[in-house]
Amino acid sequence: MTQDDLKDAVAAAAITEIAPHLDRHTILGIGTGSTANCFIDRLAQLRHDFKGAVASSEASAARLRSHGIEVFELNYAGTLPFYIDGADEVNAHLQMIKGGGAALTREKIVAACAERFICIADSSKRVERLGTFPLPVEVIPMARSYVARELVKLGADPVYREGVVTDNGNQIIDCYDFNIADPVAMEARINAIVGTVTNGLFAARGADLLLLGGEQGVERLTPVGS
Ligand code: 5RP
Repeated sequence: MTQDDLKDAVAAAAITEIAPHLDRHTILGIGTGSTANCFIDRLAQLRHDFKGAVASSEASAARLRSHGIEVFELNYAGTLPFYIDGADEVNAHLQMIKGGGAALTREKIVAACAERFICIADSSKRVERLGTFPLPVEVIPMARSYVARELVKLGADPVYREGVVTDNGNQIIDCYDFNIADPVAMEARINAIVGTVTNGLFAARGADLLLLGGEQGVERLTPVGS
């Protein structure tokens, strides 16, 4: 099985997970990235069974619309029953690093409005400890150097992701070689740096369910210790 096959398998599993809960009032929260794209493509077959979606990026919004799925503003939609998205890393507590696609801020906002966060990922994303994948931090452009210096004090090796402008008009710093012993504390610590919009640790609000695709099939995992 290729990685793309695994992504499609978890997208199919997510469809199975949410399909019984859809009705004409349902607005879904939809993430960003190649795994989320597989989910959007499969969601197209259910487009008459629910009202529409809130997207975590302009790219996902365009893909949803291309399938005839209506895209709503989050301020209109209110609380969402589900948020479905991929991850760059996920641990046993279903805490994640996200933002490889630079959509972390809108992803975190939409996830915050969801009753259930379903993470869909192939098995390469499952880690014991978060931090091998460089942690993205979205920053207000004029604060980039300041935030980078503060990140060095926290033990990171920050690298400006050149040429990338987020959907919010901001910039991304990727933190390499980061020792993230306590993801909840580190998420709050980085977010407290002035000029930071948010960081890619999804620890205080992790996923509620992980659909993890591997050679043996799709595992259905809930957070350890919950
Ligand atoms: C985008 C994200 C994605 O969810 C993450 O990068 C995973 O992407 P993919 O499914 O393409 O591996 O956080 O900002």
